[in-house]
Amino acid sequence: MNGSRSILLVEDTYEERKALDDALRGWGFEVTTVGDGVKALAKLKADRYDLVITDLKMPKLDGIGLLTKIKEQQSGIPVILVSAYGAVESAVEAMKLGAFDFVVKPFPLRVMESLVRRAAGQRPASSGDDGSSILKSSIVTKNRRMLGLLDLARTVACSKAPVFLQGESGTGKELFARFIHRKSARRNKPFVAVNCAALPEGLLESELFGHERGSFTGAVSKKLGRFELARGSTIFLDEVGEMHTHLQAKLLRVLQESEVDRVGGLRPVSVDARVVASTNQDLESAMKARKFRPDLYYRLNVIPIKLPPLRDRKDDILPLAEHFIKKYNRIDGRDVKGLTKDAAEALVQMQWPGNVRELENLVERAVLLCQGDLIDQNALFLGEQPPVVADRSFPLTGSLKEMERKMIFHTLDQTDGNRTHAAEILGVSVRTLRNKLNEYRKRMETCEGGTQIALSRNKQKRTEGMNRPLSSA
Ligand SMILES: Nc1ncnc2c1ncn2[C@@H]1O[C@H](COP(=O)(O)OP(=O)(O)OP(=O)(O)O)[C@@H](O)[C@H]1O
Ligand SMILES: [Mg+2]
Repeated sequence: MNGSRSILLVEDTYEERKALDDALRGWGFEVTTVGDGVKALAKLKADRYDLVITDLKMPKLDGIGLLTKIKEQQSGIPVILVSAYGAVESAVEAMKLGAFDFVVKPFPLRVMESLVRRAAGQRPASSGDDGSSILKSSIVTKNRRMLGLLDLARTVACSKAPVFLQGESGTGKELFARFIHRKSARRNKPFVAVNCAALPEGLLESELFGHERGSFTGAVSKKLGRFELARGSTIFLDEVGEMHTHLQAKLLRVLQESEVDRVGGLRPVSVDARVVASTNQDLESAMKARKFRPDLYYRLNVIPIKLPPLRDRKDDILPLAEHFIKKYNRIDGRDVKGLTKDAAEALVQMQWPGNVRELENLVERAVLLCQGDLIDQNALFLGEQPPVVADRSFPLTGSLKEMERKMIFHTLDQTDGNRTHAAEILGVSVRTLRNKLNEYRKRMETCEGGTQIALSRNKQKRTEGMNRPLSSA
């Protein structure tokens, strides 16, 4: 093994199994999942684990039953029990039986993280560990640009310089942030993530910077802010573009002075937290609209990492799909072998507005629905036409004019609606392309309502393009 600890996760609810599996892997553990206590015992017989995390209520053998068996075997493996709210008696029983600890659902992930780290007695990663095993198990890419960005992330991980991750939703910003933390000397302290879009301004302020007791109604006790909790570690400011300008000013001060002012505090408190921020917004225009402070932008943007959308790294689509098939095989206990040729082609042709997250969701569903060894188009698209393939394989039939129209739309799809680029590919001037589009639009308008060409998801964009004033091509 590569030095990372292995955990046996026993949970009968699919959603919860998946969420915890994701989190544990994100923290660098190896995870095996099973859906009940009997299967867990079989796994424990066959392999060695550093920790068992088990749900309390499960079919066949429940959490207490499993704990009892494990203790009988005197293997010394620590066991963490997880249970729904209200099971206090079971908690007491579990502790008496020798459980390492007991967690009540729903629990904040950071509580679970510190518990798991303690229980698994995770060794500090030795300096000889170059993290490549973790890299393999988390960030999947074959794309040259992405590999370059990973190199950059690895190089800057050990400095304290702020990193700014920009990219569309679902491109892997959080994954990169965690990677940077794991590659840094701060890796043994918990990674602290704050979603700046999730809380209203006042709450976000005390969440980030903490508050003194009595500083506002409801502040019944002193609270440490996330910056203080991230002392010696990494703080991830997710969706920082959503932060209110008043807080932006406070954040700027933290970055400049390495000090925070607790709400209602008399003196600043010094902090040492490495800042990694992210946004999926276009901050250049937010700055023009005075919604984002340029001075903060330059402070955050010391190491800029711009993650390309999936449609611009098509060579990553199939490796990612394979990675997700393996992941969901494991979670669902399935044995899907791969994709049919058609299915693979369809995936490569798609535009992926939701990027890697969208691909992951599609594969997750397909693994569940897959009937044979291979995922086919049916399992991927539920019997509907794949979003782009239908357009791609335009049959060589119809009038010349019709072929021309299809070809133009096809090219616009491929260039994501960029007419200059499309004209280049088609070998015509932008002006000619514009005239053609104008013509089609007129035709569509004169078409009696409802008989318009059926628009697929991906056609929407280029149609929007058609409705823009055509002079601005
Ligand atoms: N290169 C990759 N290899 C493996 N999994 C990936 C990769 N990129 C993204 N993912 C997975 O895709 C999902 C979305 O990634 P992530 O949450 O990091 O995106 P994001 O850029 O933070 O999105 P958002 O802006 O919506 O928060 C996650 O489940 C993540 O594990
Ligand atoms: Mg994110």
